Amino acid sequence: MNRSYSRDTVEKSRHIPVLVDEVIDNLNCLRGGIYVDSTLGEGGHAQRILEVILPGGLLIGIDQDGEAIRRAKENLKKYKENLLTFERAFSEIGTILESLRIKEVDGILFDLGLSSLQLQDATRGFSFQKDGPLDMRMSESTRLTAGYLLNTLSFDELVAILYKYGEERWAKRIVRRVVESRRKGPVETTFQLVEIIKRAIPRSAWPRRIHVATRTFQALRIAVNDELMVLERTLPQAAGFLKKGGRICVISYHSLEDRIVKNFFREYRKQGLKAVFPKPVTPTREELQINPRCRSAKLRAGEMDPLHL
Ligand SMILES: C[S@@+](CC[C@H](N)C(=O)[O-])C[C@H]1O[C@@H](n2cnc3c(N)ncnc32)[C@H](O)[C@@H]1O
Repeated sequence: MNRSYSRDTVEKSRHIPVLVDEVIDNLNCLRGGIYVDSTLGEGGHAQRILEVILPGGLLIGIDQDGEAIRRAKENLKKYKENLLTFERAFSEIGTILESLRIKEVDGILFDLGLSSLQLQDATRGFSFQKDGPLDMRMSESTRLTAGYLLNTLSFDELVAILYKYGEERWAKRIVRRVVESRRKGPVETTFQLVEIIKRAIPRSAWPRRIHVATRTFQALRIAVNDELMVLERTLPQAAGFLKKGGRICVISYHSLEDRIVKNFFREYRKQGLKAVFPKPVTPTREELQINPRCRSAKLRAGEMDPLHL
């Protein structure tokens, strides 16, 4: 897969970190501490964490997207003495920390979803606003693309994906159109899929606040990258590395992710993880004006109870 980005993509795409002040406050960043940014992206949150933990601190940055790692390293080059980066899935957080002989850390951040760079690059196939191949893989090591799923899965399997991961109530109609279309030839591009979705959903039922293709694209992306399963498995693993008093912050961008995070906090209570605030923190009106993309963001934070035995 060619992961070189045009200058145009790179310049337009600079990712604006979401809820960054709230993350810094709630991750309880301390000078000299050890932190993990499990979704390094272009290093926006990482930069703010590094500014607080220096001198002497260490930030371990993980991202499964090689281009994100390259961009973050470039953006954070002045902090290179205090930054270690890993082009890996965050499900490998345990292996990574063990390889560094680190038993516990002061804080761990997950800022889920996509970066602007990924979204704006048509060749990645994440955006229904750009024409490109139906790829949607976050990592080069992922085997299946969205196009492969669309063109090979059965009607029932595709409907299940759209219901489960997109909460798309028009799933059956959309998939019926996909199946009809692929009889004539494979569905290969994002715009081909957008057209199919537009024709499948009656105009009067198109959602007002989101694009008509949002739910289908979300569902396919989650399926391709197995996002929910990976998140569910990784959160408890990560919490196992928190010091007493250590913090974990998770920013989610849709209700399926947030449900997993909420349940994780509830279930991990027995292991001493206290939610820092009862309800998730959402962006302020000012932040929404600067960065409309953050409108669905929700931050939840937990602290490993220092008194827990
Ligand atoms: C919203 S962006 C993070 C942006 C970053 N906080 C910043 O300020 O630049 C999410 C990043 O998480 C990465 N990501 C998503 N799922 C991942 C996983 N399972 N393992 C590793 N990285 C993942 C994506 O590749 C993407 O770069």
